[in-house]
Amino acid sequence: MRKVIYPGTFDPVTLGHIDIIQRACDLFDEVVVTVAINPDKTPLFTIEERIVFIKESVKCYPKVLVDSFDGLVVEHAKNVGAIGIIRGLRALSDFEYEFQMALMNRKLAKNINTVFLMPHEKYTYLNSSIIRNLASLNSDVSDFVPPIVQEALKKKFIK
Ligand code: COA
Repeated sequence: MRKVIYPGTFDPVTLGHIDIIQRACDLFDEVVVTVAINPDKTPLFTIEERIVFIKESVKCYPKVLVDSFDGLVVEHAKNVGAIGIIRGLRALSDFEYEFQMALMNRKLAKNINTVFLMPHEKYTYLNSSIIRNLASLNSDVSDFVPPIVQEALKKKFIK
């Protein structure tokens, strides 16, 4: 059983994240999408809301589990029995930060490797901040997020 975790803030989950989840499912037996409780970010959606959005969006993928974690990502990987950490690389600009994180995580837990996957080119310019910004300006985000997120954003920003 080759299990990996896919950690992130997912505030909110986008179709770019879902694309990475699909690719991870093609490679591994189980993918745990794990929502980080990150004290450095002030999220728009609560941890519970973010989990519900992901669960609803991946319900057709039987290999995917969704949970949350607080603390070190490698400790969570060990706790769930994962052999690796999935991260998405969208552009060269992601690389330096991701490289540093991957090497530090390997130093902390030498048996847990980071696997980088690239989403489809149509999602390379996406991130959650852009989605929140577009939605706050009442722009249509249906090409970028699952329907449940689109609805939640609409409700959040109703004037
Ligand atoms: N499609 C669209 N957007 C994507 C994406 C994709 N495939 N992959 C990443 N993004 C976006 C995210 O939406 C997010 O956007 P935002 O900053 O505008 O909100 C941004 O890229 C950052 O991605 P995210 O995956 O949420 O990473 P993060 O930097 O917020 O979180 C953790 C990274 C949680 C994995 C990391 O901080 C962590 O491991 N924390 C635990 C503490 C720890 O172990 N520290 C030691 C590590 S060295």
